[in-house]
Amino acid sequence: MSDTYKVILVVGSLRKDSITRKMANALITAAPDALQCRIANIDDLVVFNEDLERDTPAPWTRFRRDVRDSDAVLFVTPEYNRSVPGGLKNAIDVASRPEGKNAWAGKPAAVVSVTPYKLGAFGANHALRQTFVFLDMPVMQQPEAYIGDAANLFDAAGALNDEKTRKFLVDFMAAFGRWIAAARAR
Ligand code: FNR
Repeated sequence: MSDTYKVILVVGSLRKDSITRKMANALITAAPDALQCRIANIDDLVVFNEDLERDTPAPWTRFRRDVRDSDAVLFVTPEYNRSVPGGLKNAIDVASRPEGKNAWAGKPAAVVSVTPYKLGAFGANHALRQTFVFLDMPVMQQPEAYIGDAANLFDAAGALNDEKTRKFLVDFMAAFGRWIAAARAR
């Protein structure tokens, strides 16, 4: 992998002490040098309403540009009610419009789901994957990442404190780098 790629991370939790955000930061740390990663801001996106397209809110324009300017997207999400948090779904909807200008189209993607509980937020992970069909995003299938018991993986400063998970994240990000290169070469 000789090229470098701009990767935006879209994080499904908006709260300050989010475990998912800690995981997103750990994924950035685990990424190979070829992936230039940053977390996109979604917490200022007003709830999508087609009527607002007539005078597009500035945060929508900024976020659509963030997505368009990226080479790939890594979604890192908690699970709300066995599905995707509303704020994340809203961000997806915002950048999929206006009609005919879907900013997500063709962007290689990957999903990491995170929960303090046991089931790995499988429901959110796969609800997200369902949107990629219509958005036309080629999503990495393997390795899958369903991270349970996640509250115990970080120290008081928010740094990852589990070696097995660190190794998994390094392998996951290396695979994502290969997936991006392969998807963009098609
Ligand atoms: C949750 N939580 C949760 N967890 C889970 O594993 N499956 C679920 O379906 C739900 N549902 C759910 C709904 C709502 C509205 C909230 C607020 C929470 C718990 C959730 O995993 C927990 O709050 C995480 O800490 C949220 O992620 P962040 O904010 O720490 O990143």
